[in-house]
Amino acid sequence: MGVARVVVSLALLAAVSVGQDAISAESTNFTLTADNMSYLFHVDTESGELISDHFGSPVDDFTPAAFVLPWGWHDNLANLRREFPDIGRSDPRLPAIHIQHADGNTVSALLYQSHEVTQGKPVLPGLPATYGNESDVSTLAVRLYDNVSDVSAVLSYSIFPKYNAVARSFSIINNGSSDIVINRAASFSTDFPNLDLDLIEVQGDWSHEFNRVKRRVDYGETTIRSTEGYSSHLSNPFIALMPPSTTESSGEVWGFNLVWTGSFEATTERFSNGFVRVLLGLNSLHTSIKVQPGESFQSPEAVALYSTEGVGGMSRSFHELYKNHLSRSKFTHQTRPILLNSWEGLGFEINQTSLVRLAGEAVELGIQLFVNDDGWFGEKYPRNNDSLGLGDWTPNPQYFPDGLRPYVADVNNFTVLNSSEPLQFGIWVEPEMVNPNSTLYQEHPDWVLHASTHARSLTRNQLVLNVGLPEVQDFIISTVSGLLDSANIQYVKWDNNRAMHELSHPSDEYKYILGLYHVIENLTTRYPDVLWEGCASGGGRFDAGLLHYWPQHWTSDNTDASDRLTIQLGTSLVYPPSAMGCHISKAPNGFNQRNISIEFRGHVAMMCGSFGLELNPEELTEHEAAAIPSIMAEAKRVNPVVISGEFYRLALPDYTPWPATQFVSADGSESVVFAFQQKYTVKPAAPPVKLQGLDPKARYFNDLDNGTYTGATYMNGGLNIQWDRADYQSKMIWLTKQ
Ligand code: GLA
Repeated sequence: MGVARVVVSLALLAAVSVGQDAISAESTNFTLTADNMSYLFHVDTESGELISDHFGSPVDDFTPAAFVLPWGWHDNLANLRREFPDIGRSDPRLPAIHIQHADGNTVSALLYQSHEVTQGKPVLPGLPATYGNESDVSTLAVRLYDNVSDVSAVLSYSIFPKYNAVARSFSIINNGSSDIVINRAASFSTDFPNLDLDLIEVQGDWSHEFNRVKRRVDYGETTIRSTEGYSSHLSNPFIALMPPSTTESSGEVWGFNLVWTGSFEATTERFSNGFVRVLLGLNSLHTSIKVQPGESFQSPEAVALYSTEGVGGMSRSFHELYKNHLSRSKFTHQTRPILLNSWEGLGFEINQTSLVRLAGEAVELGIQLFVNDDGWFGEKYPRNNDSLGLGDWTPNPQYFPDGLRPYVADVNNFTVLNSSEPLQFGIWVEPEMVNPNSTLYQEHPDWVLHASTHARSLTRNQLVLNVGLPEVQDFIISTVSGLLDSANIQYVKWDNNRAMHELSHPSDEYKYILGLYHVIENLTTRYPDVLWEGCASGGGRFDAGLLHYWPQHWTSDNTDASDRLTIQLGTSLVYPPSAMGCHISKAPNGFNQRNISIEFRGHVAMMCGSFGLELNPEELTEHEAAAIPSIMAEAKRVNPVVISGEFYRLALPDYTPWPATQFVSADGSESVVFAFQQKYTVKPAAPPVKLQGLDPKARYFNDLDNGTYTGATYMNGGLNIQWDRADYQSKMIWLTKQ
């Protein structure tokens, strides 16, 4: 059967147009070619199986696969490097696709049927995804068919040559006459040969996001996952693989990231023959997705990319790909207004008078956008603390007797320092959630995620609305659009402060995330001029799915500048600094009482696209108040470079008391270095800060020692910084190309 299918498809090949450099399909040998990467797989013409050949530095030919002795229990498929492994036909490794058929069996034989190459990239209906035009990306769609069960699959590869990246997704079509159930769906899967590999992942928790963890890829299975319903603080849908010799700035790295906001699973499995299977997709505990006859399932997209410039090179490819081909907001490439957020300064102690006073104080400091955080809503259950009012999105009449419009007008009446611009106004919402103490919950107790009569477990005194339900989607769309129409609101912080617990069916989670995308697509399309910022108790949903719609995300509720260095540099493994929200908060810090200078706090915060303050200006010390004007000026100067430049992690806070980062402007004409001394030591001396990304032959002036040196000197010799004898010192150093 397999052979017959291949013969049919070979006849179709003549129809495939030629001259498509990024994708070549000679016979059924597929080569995806990027600037510095090749991705090869082929169809075994005997069986119709898809076989992985190569993913790495450029190669020119298909060569015979590694020979594995075919005796013993593991022969046939177990010894092949498979490109889209299914289950039940002699391969005991974890599958990318696991389908339960109507009669209960879970065996699949998805074999090659045909393929098609197109320029550009089709949209994934209802899902966030990378995008690009015909000169950016080419797409190979391979159709597979299971003759026994009448299920077909379309495996789609879109190659972005400039970024050495492949975006992959698949659909499953039920051509039969009974329901099928998808139990496992890995958007990306491939089998590496027997290579010595390390795995980098990020682990954390609330206020402790994105801690880099490295481990060896050993025999058996290693799974990183979230079963929280969201991408979560615990981990992130990202892993990277690399040989042990790879460093931050040199060596091979493969990075994998799922464009998805829900529960996920990333797995490496080293089999007895040494081959390493990589799987990245939905969490199988939250899958069980039914597909009816004639219907199809579309997986989210996963991005796999390759770099020979170390972990930093991988990160920069993700950043540039995501800035140019994932994030759709018009703000992505724009500098962001400096904001002041009311949360850490005032908490729930707000009313119109105190907020307008705060806005007036903010404007004196050079703030351009005033953000009213939590606490402004609720009538019967006024939001005086976190146990009340979520779901009732009407302004608290005791605080805002005439609604939001006149209050926002008062804020807009302030003029931004040294400009004629009005102070902008932004607001906090958490539309996917409800407190039991709310009118909404009393009217619609059935709208929350729950399972039968199990207790509905609370976190932060709240429950999760079932955003998979169309009536909940409509409620959120009409509530948020009603709010945006009610006053001149130019920014929204969309928060989400708990995980999903009880589900009536595991697939509720999947339907919820699709529902959420529908809601956000609708609102961001209707309000493209609103600057949307995601938040989930900090970085609980810092993921590529939401970055498709929203240009920025609050990075962590932990605003301690020292902890933030670890969190922000960890987040930058995948996501661009331009997408991070970072604020200066008060000292000593509310979390850990650390007393860090305002200059250090400022330098850490201005390494992010969205910089701001989150404190009560009345509590500033004299020194802090005096330092603010120059911090604001520095933040404004650096913001264009943070938004459009390239980012380098020069030294990591977990390995040295002297962490450092660097941005190089898009045109290469300037570069800025942020260097820190977290802990003063008598000995040893601080190491030189070796820069990256400069033109070795060009000369650059620096404002540290006012010297002019070549790029080679800065990169190979480095800058020596004379630090004060104190902890938590920082420097911002500008280099200007001569
Ligand atoms: C979450 C957010 C904070 C703040 C509070 C308000 O914790 O991460 O920034 O908005 O909610 O309740």
